[in-house]
Amino acid sequence: MNIRPARVDDLTGMQACNLQNLPENYTMKYYMYHLLTWPQLSYVAEDNKGRIVGYILAKMEEDVDDSEEQHGHVTSISVLRSYRRLGLAKKLMVQSQEAMATAYRAAYVSLHVRKSNRAALGLYRDTLGFTVKDIEKKYYADGEDAYAMRLSLKHLTR
Ligand SMILES: CC(C)(COP(=O)(O)OP(=O)(O)OC[C@H]1O[C@@H](n2cnc3c(N)ncnc32)[C@H](O)[C@@H]1OP(=O)(O)O)[C@@H](O)C(=O)NCCC(=O)NCCS
Repeated sequence: MNIRPARVDDLTGMQACNLQNLPENYTMKYYMYHLLTWPQLSYVAEDNKGRIVGYILAKMEEDVDDSEEQHGHVTSISVLRSYRRLGLAKKLMVQSQEAMATAYRAAYVSLHVRKSNRAALGLYRDTLGFTVKDIEKKYYADGEDAYAMRLSLKHLTR
């Protein structure tokens, strides 16, 4: 399994992976916007045939007011079912976090996760050390609440 920065010709594979794994789907234009604006922050995991089996789509937060620090945001991450628990999501997260810190001096990374998503919560909280900053009521289209989570990247920007 190979983890590398995402390219424009990976976008259909990333979108297919997203459609299989998550109800939160995005237009091709939105994927493209991420890659063209923050090309260092999105990564793919590919198998030995070059098939996309996982991805992370990430960006820098754009609506940052004067009181806030520059920070990265994970828009979407998923790994195909038969490739889970191999450490791919952890690697995708770590690669993106390092790039947020080194390329954009991000002070922290933020994300949203469904309160019921045990696998993702295990990854973010237990493996990577994210903490819950807030609960956003009815954040998702079906009415489920989200945890707004954060992880400091200051140790990487020093
Ligand atoms: C969440 C997801 C991306 C994790 O991908 P993954 O490649 O299987 O994760 P990793 O192998 O890197 O797991 C790292 C750690 O996360 C935690 N974790 C992963 N899957 C878990 C599960 N099903 N239950 C509990 N903890 C889990 C574990 O602590 C794991 O470490 P361990 O395997 O040493 O115990 C994957 O389950 C997925 O694609 N789910 C559907 C899409 C999704 O929910 N995306 C997140 C939206 S916010």
